[in-house]
Amino acid sequence: MRRILLAAVLAMLGTSLPASDKTMDGFISGLMRKMTLREKIGQLNLLPAGEIVTGAEINTEVSGSIAAGDVGGVFNVKGTDKIRALQEIAVRKSRLGIPLIVGMDVIHGYETIFPIPLALSCSWDTAAVERSARIAAREASADGICWTFSPMADIALDARWGRISEGNGEDPYLGSRMAAAMVRGYQGDYSRADNIMACLKHYAMYGAAEAGRDYSMADMSRVRMYNQYLPPYKAAVEAGVGSVMSSFNVVDCIPATANKWLMTDVLRGEWGFDGMLVTDYESIKEIIKHGTAEDLADASAQALNAGTDMDMCSRGYIGTLEQSVLDGRVSAEAVDRACRRVLEAKYRLGLFDNPYKYCDPKRRKKDIFTAENRAAARDIAAETFVLLKNDNGTLPLKKEGRIALIGPLADTRSNMAGTWCVAYTPERYSTLRESMAQALGGKAELLYAQGCNITADERQQKDGEFGKAIKRGDDALMKAEALAVARQADVIVCAMGETAEMTGESSSRAKLAMPDVQAALLAELVKTGKPVVLLNFSGRPTVLTWEQDNVQAIMNVWFGGSEAAHAICDVLFGDKTPCGRLTVSMPRATGQEPLYYNHLSSGRPVEEGAKRYYKFRNNYLDVRNDPLYPFGYGLSYTSFEYGEPRLSAATMERNGGVKATVTVKNTGDRDADEVVQLYIRDRVASISRPVKELKGFQRIHLKAGESREVTFDITPDMLKFYNSELRHVLEPGDFSIMTGPDSRRLKTVKLTVR
Ligand code: BGC
Repeated sequence: MRRILLAAVLAMLGTSLPASDKTMDGFISGLMRKMTLREKIGQLNLLPAGEIVTGAEINTEVSGSIAAGDVGGVFNVKGTDKIRALQEIAVRKSRLGIPLIVGMDVIHGYETIFPIPLALSCSWDTAAVERSARIAAREASADGICWTFSPMADIALDARWGRISEGNGEDPYLGSRMAAAMVRGYQGDYSRADNIMACLKHYAMYGAAEAGRDYSMADMSRVRMYNQYLPPYKAAVEAGVGSVMSSFNVVDCIPATANKWLMTDVLRGEWGFDGMLVTDYESIKEIIKHGTAEDLADASAQALNAGTDMDMCSRGYIGTLEQSVLDGRVSAEAVDRACRRVLEAKYRLGLFDNPYKYCDPKRRKKDIFTAENRAAARDIAAETFVLLKNDNGTLPLKKEGRIALIGPLADTRSNMAGTWCVAYTPERYSTLRESMAQALGGKAELLYAQGCNITADERQQKDGEFGKAIKRGDDALMKAEALAVARQADVIVCAMGETAEMTGESSSRAKLAMPDVQAALLAELVKTGKPVVLLNFSGRPTVLTWEQDNVQAIMNVWFGGSEAAHAICDVLFGDKTPCGRLTVSMPRATGQEPLYYNHLSSGRPVEEGAKRYYKFRNNYLDVRNDPLYPFGYGLSYTSFEYGEPRLSAATMERNGGVKATVTVKNTGDRDADEVVQLYIRDRVASISRPVKELKGFQRIHLKAGESREVTFDITPDMLKFYNSELRHVLEPGDFSIMTGPDSRRLKTVKLTVR
């Protein structure tokens, strides 16, 4: 009785009671007793709503399947009206009235869009990332969505892979912190109507696609998996993620979706994950293409037996599992287990209490794309831009004289938000040209020319647009017009780079330099002798070697979301100071990929930063080893000075701890944020260890002239690694403790662990 009363009070406050496991178990057992085998399998069937809802029409075939109890969930449908209509079919027409779970790729915002995840990670601001996920959850849940296919925790070392844009870059520690922050932001403790369930993806090693080509095989040693690739997934599980999505690739030559070691032994056994495991899009079907299953029945049985609960789009479970139970290929218990997990997810989301919990039309009006959400997106976007070069204080620009804005990304609305924004409303977003005019408010004259296409090859440009078209014109004419505009200006701002969809799924690139006609135009603009600022739009590390040598200022602006254009102006004109730091190494040449700072040492290394070639050494004839811009790098409008790191003790007991302190001073004349970074190196271990590994960071705010001592706790956990038996161990000996502003400019102190 007290629980009911409390529930009533909480309901008035817009929250509900956290589900007690016992109550939930009892409820679900009772429900499952009433379910036929077919109905249980129906719960495991997840379908894309695109096939169900066309405009306002509901596809009768699929609505029939929902009514028959053959569908457990749908995804990527927008709007409470449509979602309510689908939910009503499930609740009113199916025999047991089990509500649908409704998912969407809410990857970096709903209608208020935040920067792409790679950019978000460059803020090194976990609170901001958590906040972005919180706002995304609030907006999505106000529009009928209760489940997001995010975060993506795939470590990506190869910039050719387009999906590097959807993750947190190359570092397992930073990636873990970011993935956990996103889970917290989306889910909270599920009790509120504006929290949604997160889905960790793509488990596992999807980012290791060979040659950076999407959907390629990934292969590596288990030691490498445990030390470098698995930590961010594990961190999301530890943060309580409610669901996990398997990846398209093979792991140990077995498709992830059918890989029992991965899905059951590691995820559930070692890490204790007890949520719902869903496949990626048609990945059960793809098991056949991988050559490890004969047909859909075989593939489906393998997936279920490996521990996969829900089938996204293959229709393998709904089409074959009943017969497979009869044939003894899968057990009825395995179906029960999977069904229970799907029902538990629905229960935890409160859908059994109220199937329309996420379909409140009042919330839709008041919670989506609000001024407050947009202000947060604008602030956060400004934190993600990385200032790569700034000669003679070219930036910030003064609001005076004549400014020429040139480039194919200067006046596009649909490309500002980035890849994967299913629910976006681009007509409400500003182009950079519009925001600049607004920011200048008539104080300076703004000239504009598109200048060139994205690339000379029309077909290639179309393929890279995926619906987010950029106007095409004649390159020669556009160049002439741009040069005429540039000659009248005091400064030239170039908005160039990739379109939003040149990264993301199925957008691998083998050439990472500025595309042909854009590079040619940039060279001509530089020849005018006017100062040139390059705003590099990209969803991946690109090659900016020529630009570094020839352009006065370069800022990587990624794809900054719905408020990107305003945020760019905030930083461009100095209302805000750039403070993003790279979470990916930016190469000098595409051939350096995969390029990452935390590599193992060769037996024939060259000195870090070596400028020439050495015969019989680990280097290239034609390009230096080190990146153009290293991991952790980013400039500011002020400057910082770092002292030597100091330890509270030179030795540490195996279960003890020491403190590392470094003094950081803002030596410029602007207040600004700095990201103080801590790296370690295990000097001698039983397996080869990375030359450096990020183990801590702190974002601090320093006033002009202010200095501060920044202290990190060095804990045994930080010094541990997975050895060749996959045991997590701390091996005594010497460690380098390094602090500094990025992974290149570090100062070192020695720590001995006894
Ligand atoms: C992608 C996933 C995504 C899913 C559903 C797949 O193609 O790999 O990341 O969540 O589609 O849209």
